[in-house]
Amino acid sequence: DWTMEHFIELEVEKIRAEVGDRNVLCGLSGGVDSSVVAGLIHRAIGDQLTCIFVDHGLLRKDEGDDVMRFLGDGFNMNIIRVDAKDRFLTKLAGVEDPEQKRKIIGNEFIEVFDEEAEKLENVDYLAQGTLYTDIIESGTETAQTIKSHHNVGGLPEDMELKLIEPLNTLFKDEVRELGTELGIPEHIVWRQPFPGPGLSIRILGAVDEEKLEIVRESDAILRDEIKEAGLDRDIWQYFTVLPNIKSVGVMGDERTYDHTIGIRAVTSIDGMTSDWARIPWHVLEKVSTRLVNEVSHINRVVYDVTSKPPATIEWE
Ligand code: XMP
Repeated sequence: DWTMEHFIELEVEKIRAEVGDRNVLCGLSGGVDSSVVAGLIHRAIGDQLTCIFVDHGLLRKDEGDDVMRFLGDGFNMNIIRVDAKDRFLTKLAGVEDPEQKRKIIGNEFIEVFDEEAEKLENVDYLAQGTLYTDIIESGTETAQTIKSHHNVGGLPEDMELKLIEPLNTLFKDEVRELGTELGIPEHIVWRQPFPGPGLSIRILGAVDEEKLEIVRESDAILRDEIKEAGLDRDIWQYFTVLPNIKSVGVMGDERTYDHTIGIRAVTSIDGMTSDWARIPWHVLEKVSTRLVNEVSHINRVVYDVTSKPPATIEWE
């Protein structure tokens, strides 16, 4: 009889037998898969696991602290958090092309990760949150970005880490069940997909602190209201985008000339195709009011009503 408890027991034994007294490295992104794989391996070998969490400064509001609080403090996991925001923003300064932004972030990610990995000793294994479906299609999370890069040789050659991929027989819903069984908080286990390049691809064109602040704060408000409305598990992804256009508005007696923010919310099975989510008007109304009142530099809110195809889920 296959149960999740039984799966954990078996995997814990397997991991212990394989690893022995050596150490395991794991890249943590705050996403579901990397959190669950870290949780499982930690259950098996405790302090022999070290996680590297590259904080590129493009995460959602409070996400970095959240990872540290629940996995670091809560599970007593060894997590090295690298605050690399300045490095990433410097490299990204003035870069407008979406693919160029992705490339820069991917490369910088590997560099930071490798720098940290090289400082560790007796590491023989790299744990990855590869799912069954990832073997067939390319993934959507930071952890998977690490994975694909390291599969093509991102780590220093002399490290020659062996891969451990204990989730590679599981589907997403099973990973969520496993995470819950391991005691990982619901809000992490049920996190929506989040792209590796993070908020940078939700700002059209060049990224800077001020624009990041607008998308980060507006995203937090949208998430808050979607959760409040009980819609967070029905909508595949929901986020805000900064199209980088300004328009005329009015505030009190003053004319304003400021940013438009877009709301993107889609339903989907796998991210390959999607439909725009029919969020009830009253929820949109509340989000809109909060966005213009609580986030500086927003004077207009628009709702994206395009399916994929022809649009994509992200705007870049
Ligand atoms: P699109 O925008 O292509 O997105 O419809 C499909 C899914 O992939 C995610 N996405 C990415 N994930 N790195 C990632 O790890 C990326 O560069 C990237 N671009 C898009 C997107 O959030 C959606 O879930």
